[in-house]
Amino acid sequence: MAENIQAIRGMHDILPDQTPRWHHVEAVLRRVMAAYGYREIRMPLVEKTELFKRSIGEVTDIVEKEMYTFEDRNGDSLTLRPEGTAGCLRACLEHGLIHNQAHRLWYAGPMFRHERPQKGRYRQFHQLGVEAYGMPGPDIDAELILLCRRLWRELGLGHKLELQLNSLGTAEERLAYRAKLVEYFRAHYEQLDEDSRRRLETNPLRILDSKNPELREVIEGAPVLAEEFGEESKAHFQGLLERLDEAGVAYGVNPRLVRGLDYYCRTVFEWVTQELGAQGTVCAGGRYDGLIEQLGGKGSAAVGFALGMERLIDLLDEPERFEAAAQPHAYLISVGGLAERKAVALAESLRDALPSLRLQEHRGGGGFKSQFKRADKSGAQVALILGDDEARDLTIGIKHLRTDAGQTTLAQAELVSFLQTLI
Ligand code: HAM
Repeated sequence: MAENIQAIRGMHDILPDQTPRWHHVEAVLRRVMAAYGYREIRMPLVEKTELFKRSIGEVTDIVEKEMYTFEDRNGDSLTLRPEGTAGCLRACLEHGLIHNQAHRLWYAGPMFRHERPQKGRYRQFHQLGVEAYGMPGPDIDAELILLCRRLWRELGLGHKLELQLNSLGTAEERLAYRAKLVEYFRAHYEQLDEDSRRRLETNPLRILDSKNPELREVIEGAPVLAEEFGEESKAHFQGLLERLDEAGVAYGVNPRLVRGLDYYCRTVFEWVTQELGAQGTVCAGGRYDGLIEQLGGKGSAAVGFALGMERLIDLLDEPERFEAAAQPHAYLISVGGLAERKAVALAESLRDALPSLRLQEHRGGGGFKSQFKRADKSGAQVALILGDDEARDLTIGIKHLRTDAGQTTLAQAELVSFLQTLI
């Protein structure tokens, strides 16, 4: 026998009993996006490798070791998108949507990162991304956070997610800080691990983000970025905090929050949960004003976030409860030559009359008993039973599958109004 071919490690099938919970979350996301005036954009899954190198940063984990990069048949270096911010901005620059304009956009779909798979961390995962262009003030940063809060509330997850905030200041302020940080960590070189020593040369801010508990002490003693802030950066962050206070959003300011992508400036934030173990960051984002010029465009205001769909869905209570929305309302059983022929036209006429009816017809033959078994398994609320007698009399048997209501007979002419009560 031939060997089974299996899915690629870290890339998962989403099976039919799981898709209803995805549909539920996706429907809530769409509704909330529309409620705040965000419009959907769809970008290709593959972009030129250069785009990600220039935007995410050459010395980030993603670009250094996580991208699915390959040469296509023309010899061009292409990459499966590891995130959506770069592609979204590329698309908007290409189509003239950035200069002198304001846009609120969202996208959803798979992203690819060659990370070590574990619970909540996959090589193909799904994000909802939200980006706002052309709005430099902290008001839009606050809007994005409020939009997140509404998403969590509508999904019944408000109590499971906490907001952490920080400001990274401007690129110049970060440069001044970087120098101080390098000086500090050089003085404590002996306490650094191998990774951090390497980062000291390439991306010293990322040392602050280290998960190594042995580094906690030395990190806690490091200088703080906020000390380098000028008036504008201070006012921007203060403006955000005031708006969040006004709207009653609970948050923690975490001065060590730096994010793993290089394009951020000023506001950065993460929504984290204690319920998912090590992969507790469900949603993350921030401002990235400088990226527009870095990609060759004019304009200087951009802010956004992305949430991990798998992690969000893992937080849902009783996710099986969404399955009912996908199960048939009714299952049509037919036994006998005449009944089987009449059943097809009957089912079609019911679908004509009731477009949102979910009606499953039995296929594959078999007697009443085996057809009832399938009807029960389908999750349908009722079985509609057509034997040759019913087919001749223009009647139909109705059996309630989820209650003890027993079996009744109806005229076929009454079937539409009966089924309407199930929808
Ligand atoms: P990120 O922090 O790299 O940001 O990813 C955002 C979210 O995607 C994470 O918080 C997590 O929930 C989910 N995620 C990331 N990697 C994985 C993985 N391997 N498996 C499962 N889930 C994962 C960005 O991607 C930025 N583009 C966000 C952004 C948009 N910033 C501004 N605009």
